[in-house]
This record gives sequence, C-alpha cells and structure tokens, in this order.
Amino acid sequence: MPLIELVNVTKRYGNVTAIKNLSLKMNDGEYICVLGPTGSGKTTLLKLIAGIVKPDSGEIYIDGRLVNDVPPQERNVAYVPQYYALFPHMSVIDNVAFGPLSRGFSREEAYKVSMQMLEMTKLAWRANSFPHELSGGMQQRLALARGLASGAKILLLDEPLGALDARLRVELRYKLRGIAKKNKLTTIHVTHDQEEAMVVADRIVVLRNGEIQQEGPPSQVYNEPKSIFVAHFVGGANFLEGFVAEVDQYGSWIQLRNGFLLRVNDVNRVVGERIVVMVREEKVEVIKGARRREEINLFPGAVSEVSFLGDFVSYSITLDNGDKVSSRMPSVFGLKRFGIGERVYVRLKPENLRVYPYPPQGLYKELEVI
Ligand SMILES: Nc1ncnc2c1ncn2[C@@H]1O[C@H](COP(=O)(O)OP(=O)(O)OP(=O)(O)O)[C@@H](O)[C@H]1O
Ligand SMILES: [Mg+2]
Repeated sequence: MPLIELVNVTKRYGNVTAIKNLSLKMNDGEYICVLGPTGSGKTTLLKLIAGIVKPDSGEIYIDGRLVNDVPPQERNVAYVPQYYALFPHMSVIDNVAFGPLSRGFSREEAYKVSMQMLEMTKLAWRANSFPHELSGGMQQRLALARGLASGAKILLLDEPLGALDARLRVELRYKLRGIAKKNKLTTIHVTHDQEEAMVVADRIVVLRNGEIQQEGPPSQVYNEPKSIFVAHFVGGANFLEGFVAEVDQYGSWIQLRNGFLLRVNDVNRVVGERIVVMVREEKVEVIKGARRREEINLFPGAVSEVSFLGDFVSYSITLDNGDKVSSRMPSVFGLKRFGIGERVYVRLKPENLRVYPYPPQGLYKELEVI
C-alpha cells in the first residue's frame, strides 16, 4: 500500500486551477522531487498533502486513511514552507526543539536531537541567536532543521535549499537525502533546480499547469523525456525543426532547413509529418575535420559563441543551413578548443536523437511557457 495517495485531486483558487485532476502514489521511504516552472502548482501540491488547503474534488490518503478532512497537526507531516515561518520570539534551538517537545520527548532528548539537526545544517554555533539575527540562508537552514527534528514520518520541503549559496546547496542536498533515508522518511522535495532533483530523487515528478507531465527515475526523465516541455525543462536541449522525408524499417530521414538530411532511429513517423528533433547538449559532438565525408549526420558550420564553464566548455554552432546548436563538452586538459568563427563539423548520432510531433501552438510558444 502506498504511504501517500492522491486520487483525481483538483484545487482551484477562484478561476485559477492550480492542481488539475492529479493522481500520484508515493511509497514508504521514497524520496520524490517535484520539478516545474513557476506557478505550475508545486507549493499547492505540498499544501494539499500537509492539509493547509483542501481539494475541491478528489481524495488524499495517508497510510490508507482518507485525510481530506483531517487537520494538518494530525497528519504526521512536517511541512517546511517556501517562505519559512519561524517563531520570532524563540531562540534557534528552541525553534528546533518545539516539535520534539510537543511530541512528548523529554527536555534532554528534545535538545539532543535538536542540536544534532543544527550541527547537520551548520547552525549549532548560532543556537542561542534569534531568527531575525540570522541571514536568509541561515533562516532557511533553521526551518529545515526544525522540519527534520519534528519526528514526522512525511517530510514536505518547498525549495529547501533555494536561499543557500551554491557550495552549501550541494553539500546539504546529500545530507538531506542521507537523513531522510536513515530515518525512513517519505520526502517530497520541491525544487526549480533540475540538477538537484537528478542527484537526490528516487523519482522525479514534472508538473506543468497543475498536471503531471512525466514521472520516473531521474535517468529516465532525462534520457527519455516524453515531451518537448520535459526535455527543455530537465537539462540542456537543442531542438531542430523539420519534416519527415522517408521512413524505412530501421528509422527515418528528416529534412531539416535548406536541404540538410538527418537520420533518426524513429520508425513511427509518417512521411510529410512536421516534427521537432531533440538532442541533449552533451550529445552534440563538435569535431574539426570530417574523416569520412560520406558519414551521415555530419553537418558543417561555424562556431558562433564559446563559454568557458570551468569543468565544461559550451559552444554555440551555426550550421550552414542556418540552424543553431549548442554543445557542452568536458574541458579536459589538452582537448582541442575551438575559437569563434572557426569552421567545424557537428556530429549527431541517431541513437541520441528523439523526435516529437511539431507542437500545435508552435515550437517557440512551447519553449516560452517556462
Ligand atoms: N492563495 C492563492 N490565491 C490565489 N491564487 C493562488 C493562491 N496560491 C496559489 N495560487 C495560484 O495557483 C497557481 C499555482 O501556484 P503555486 O504556488 O502552487 O505554484 P508553484 O509551482 O509553487 O510556483 P513557484 O515556483 O513560483 O513557487 C498559480 O497560478 C498561483 O498564482
Ligand atoms: Mg512555490
């Protein structure tokens, strides 16, 4: 039996439908990341599970019990809101100890657990400060420590690392997952950051306009995005527009702009169909000279932008047919770098290409929603 189950849940605010007929099951001990653009319903989803807002229709079950009318404090959930609500008149340690104390822990136990959580979030040295004396990132860590110490079995985290600097963010995300797994918590972690989701989640749920676009293990969502939206939202992606020129037993030929022909492995297309081909940035190979000119999917072009990203170099290539593609390559020492204006070839392996029907409202509109 799943620990949390939503069945056809809808939540409206006036004429805005924040969650649309959404169904989702979460298993005991699972770590789920919810990804989605701003306004897609992420916070509303957490509030529905926490009991802060009630569904207009549908059912929410926790541990097999229908909780639609159960108040938040009786749901055994710790909700750490996006904009953290701390007790302003209580010290840092008292803020954290509040949960364990109200659950009947002895003072000694409650403060021991609270100190551990403060150590984890690197706030132990500020145990006696008050929330208003902390920086924004510290307040966020305090809210997180309080959620973790509460003893609830279900942890609902709304952008828990959003206010932290990049280094601490990376460090804390591993610790967060570690604590959740060690204490067998079921966690829903909302984030804007697709890399964070990839690293910590057992399963990723991608939301758009209150609906689930795709859910699955990180590698599946990344490598097999079901739609242009998911491909664009989860990782760097290039999109090439074209028409299906020929379909055979093993794949199809796609006519790109100005006569360029691209081979894809997709056999489920129809000749004449307008499509979009997606390729991840790290799957775009940029090479200097073409060894075998007869090779397929090798397109000439020129480097139009170069960005050094530390561990990666990003190139923007304008192909001779006018299409632009971005490539991300590891900046390994000794690897040949290309300069702006340099003539190069771009190689796109058929196994790295995914084909989608052309979106009814146009590709630009589809990408703009984000
Ligand atoms: N209390 C409210 N009253 C009216 N509309 C609301 C309310 N709360 C949320 N909404 C609307 O519901 C939709 C979903 O909002 P929600 O806060 O769940 O999005 P989100 O995915 O958490 O966005 P963000 O990434 O910006 O935090 C939005 O269109 C928002 O304007
Ligand atoms: Mg939100």
